[in-house]
Amino acid sequence: MNVRLVTDEKIAETSSKGNQEKWHDRETGRWYKLDQFGYEGLAETVISALLERSNLETGLDFTFVRYRMERLEVHGHLRAGCSSGNFLRPGQSLVTVNRLLSHSLGMPLGEKLARLPSRKKRVAYLAEATAEVTGLARFPQYLTLLFEVDALFCNDDRHLNNIAVIEEKGRYDYCPVFDNGAGLLSNTQVLRMDIVPPALISSLRASPFQTTFARQRNAARSLYGPQLSIPRLTPGEIEEALFPALEYYPRRDRGIITDRVKTCILSGQRSL
Ligand SMILES: Nc1ncnc2c1ncn2[C@@H]1O[C@H](COP(=O)(O)OP(=O)(O)O)[C@@H](O)[C@H]1O
Ligand SMILES: [Mg+2]
Repeated sequence: MNVRLVTDEKIAETSSKGNQEKWHDRETGRWYKLDQFGYEGLAETVISALLERSNLETGLDFTFVRYRMERLEVHGHLRAGCSSGNFLRPGQSLVTVNRLLSHSLGMPLGEKLARLPSRKKRVAYLAEATAEVTGLARFPQYLTLLFEVDALFCNDDRHLNNIAVIEEKGRYDYCPVFDNGAGLLSNTQVLRMDIVPPALISSLRASPFQTTFARQRNAARSLYGPQLSIPRLTPGEIEEALFPALEYYPRRDRGIITDRVKTCILSGQRSL
């Protein structure tokens, strides 16, 4: 089934938040994101399918957003993207750590972090100030988990607006892990298809601290301990998770996407 997303016929509502073109369908409550720089929908879908095998919900008691592939008809063209169920109940809102801490500090969070003398102090500040302002005592563990997920799937887009909590009448809760769409080398505009995946992977810098994935993750782990565990994935298991999503992309790109995704995850888990 194709989903028609036509802004001016009011089938769904557009949102200017984030980078990708998005629609929120008020009737079904689903959020739709259109691929923008490459194969973001595939990245979201495959990462959430693989997280299903981890201890994220069963062991750590956090949650993550399930994404699924969509064929979206946009202004007469069929395009690829993904959708997810609304994770906010009525009365709840998403508050990014950027907004939360900049507000309580009275200065931009980015500036405050930049003034701290070491990576470890910056990680500790973000983790512990958020825990203090929200009362979410396990926020340091949640942040560590995000950095582990990002390192595993090479997601370099964990900026201060992709880390958030849920607010409802002044009380806070953990947000499901969301927006892994930049993972798996999905941005083919910047991470060009004619450059070999290992070279692309070493060119990436982890957000929000602009260092390597391993250093960012290890700084958090050395403070709060390892969180994520996931059985070692074989190339065959990665392909199994990947194949249904590949159908949404041109045949000519499927081999190269497969190579990029496999290289990314196999190198991510080697360093785990
Ligand atoms: N499933 C969802 N439930 C509730 N809100 C969502 C959902 N998906 C996206 N949003 C809203 O859209 C914003 C941007 O979503 P995100 O996945 O980060 O998109 P982008 O890849 O464009 O940055 C989120 O901060 C949130 O406000
Ligand atoms: Mg985002």
